Amino acid sequence: MIGKEQTVLLSEEAIRNRVKELGRIISADYAGADEVLLIGVLRGCFIFLADLCRELTVPSCVDFIAVSSYEDKTTPGCVKLIMDNRIDVTGKHVLIIDDILDSGHTMLYLRKHFGARDPASLKTCVLLRKPEGLEEGVQIDYFGFDIPDLWVFGYGLDNIGRLRNLPYIGCVKT
Ligand code: IMP
Ligand code: MG
Repeated sequence: MIGKEQTVLLSEEAIRNRVKELGRIISADYAGADEVLLIGVLRGCFIFLADLCRELTVPSCVDFIAVSSYEDKTTPGCVKLIMDNRIDVTGKHVLIIDDILDSGHTMLYLRKHFGARDPASLKTCVLLRKPEGLEEGVQIDYFGFDIPDLWVFGYGLDNIGRLRNLPYIGCVKT
């Protein structure tokens, strides 16, 4: 349960509506494709990806990759590969799905990682974007919401490992 010092930033309903909308947009964009390979970035993506993939009307496959972040937020090189994905991305329409874009280092790393493996196309999608901390040159194709530069949790995102199972996005009251 959410504590006294925490508040709801995005309600369950707001998230549901936006995920449906994203599903429609992405399905329309990939209408001609034989298949989209959704690659979720563990662990924060797991609920967003589960909901988004069920809104897609185009054929899709799901795979996962795990990277670590935030050991040193300031250096782009701080992203470390923990677990690679399993499906060969060569010739596939790859859509990377992450929970949140903050500095953008994770996405820069993943774009390079998959870009080097000759996908037919490579796009990125996040539920949340924090424009304040975002470095220049980070390209994102789809995002759900722009949010202020706050620590958020719930709907897959954690607060010191916990609260991933909240049905909404919460934040600490400022
Ligand atoms: P970036 O590499 O700075 O864009 O950070 C992206 C990663 O940091 C995300 O995939 C999240 O795992 C994590 N992250 C950034 N901000 C938050 C937050 O407010 N709550 C939970 N995780 C976050
Ligand atoms: Mg993450």
